[in-house]
Amino acid sequence: MALLEVRDLEVGVAIGGKVLPVVQGISFDVEENQTLGIVGESGCGKSLTSLAIMGLLEGSMLRLTGGSISFNGQDLLALSPRARRAIMGDQMAMIFQEPMTSLNPVYRIGDQIIESLRQHRSMSQRQARARAIELLDLVRIPDPERRVDSYPHQLSGGQRQRVMIAMALACGPKLLIADEPTTALDVTVQKEVLDLMLDLQKRTGTAIILISHDLGVISETCDKVVVMYRGKIVESAKTATLFSNMSHPYTQGLLASIPVVDHDVEWLNAIPGRVPLIDEVLPGCAFHPRCSFAQASCATSPPSADYVSDDHLVRCHFPNDRPSGGEAGGDA
Ligand SMILES: Nc1ncnc2c1ncn2[C@@H]1O[C@H](COP(=O)(O)OP(=O)(O)O)[C@@H](O)[C@H]1O
Ligand SMILES: [Mg+2]
Repeated sequence: MALLEVRDLEVGVAIGGKVLPVVQGISFDVEENQTLGIVGESGCGKSLTSLAIMGLLEGSMLRLTGGSISFNGQDLLALSPRARRAIMGDQMAMIFQEPMTSLNPVYRIGDQIIESLRQHRSMSQRQARARAIELLDLVRIPDPERRVDSYPHQLSGGQRQRVMIAMALACGPKLLIADEPTTALDVTVQKEVLDLMLDLQKRTGTAIILISHDLGVISETCDKVVVMYRGKIVESAKTATLFSNMSHPYTQGLLASIPVVDHDVEWLNAIPGRVPLIDEVLPGCAFHPRCSFAQASCATSPPSADYVSDDHLVRCHFPNDRPSGGEAGGDA
């Protein structure tokens, strides 16, 4: 049994009396100590998938319309809202792209960590403050005894992101969901923050779901990869398998769009076109209008997700079945 088992997850958005599907048929497992990467362009449903797992869709136009989520052997969807909230922030934590959405600007960072500790653990104010300083030290905030009394605006972007990681790790969660945790940061700080997360994982065994639009980041950090396009998984495999045998033209396009550092890149080999809008009806493969390998059937019948090998799932009518050296093959 995996720590997290997501099966056929579906999310819909209620618009004008209808519920339009935005996330469909998402299934994956995350094991303890493992990092699962979810990659795809903006608008593919990565955040909605993670919010659904965290139980944070309520109170909006968004609905969980199907599927199941098992965490640590418990069926999360069968729990009362109260029991679910108790798990959140304690056994499951989430880091968001923009730290200021989680950090409250009017409270000192130490007090925010202390509050989270005292909510989930019976600790005295003094114990919690000592633990907050320890956590700030763990995420390499310099001079933590002094910084614990800083306000968020007194820290750099990279430091704020590390404080968020400290808050997320405060209670020693079994699962950490990091939704584009480094997108807002400089490249050098990005690497620091990712290394820090992986280093903490080694020490604590926390499972991580790392969400990114950057296949380069995913390749360096994850054990398994799920590639999403327009709310569905189009390819998934162990990282090594995926990178040695990319089978979906969309994944190949994502690889080709990784900018090459040390190179004078004048333009990126980005995938032409855009992710279809949620109310656009596409009877065939949702990627076919942008796919350079599309054939007539791609426009009319939706491909099913099939295993091309052991753990390697591809949703494409013609996986890997294309001329070698094709333009979407990418030599980046
Ligand atoms: N609160 C919302 N209300 C309506 N539609 C939404 C909402 N949040 C996201 N969506 C739609 O759902 C789709 C997936 O969004 P999201 O999961 O945020 O994508 P990603 O994180 O991959 O960029 C997008 O097309 C987006 O427009
Ligand atoms: Mg997102």
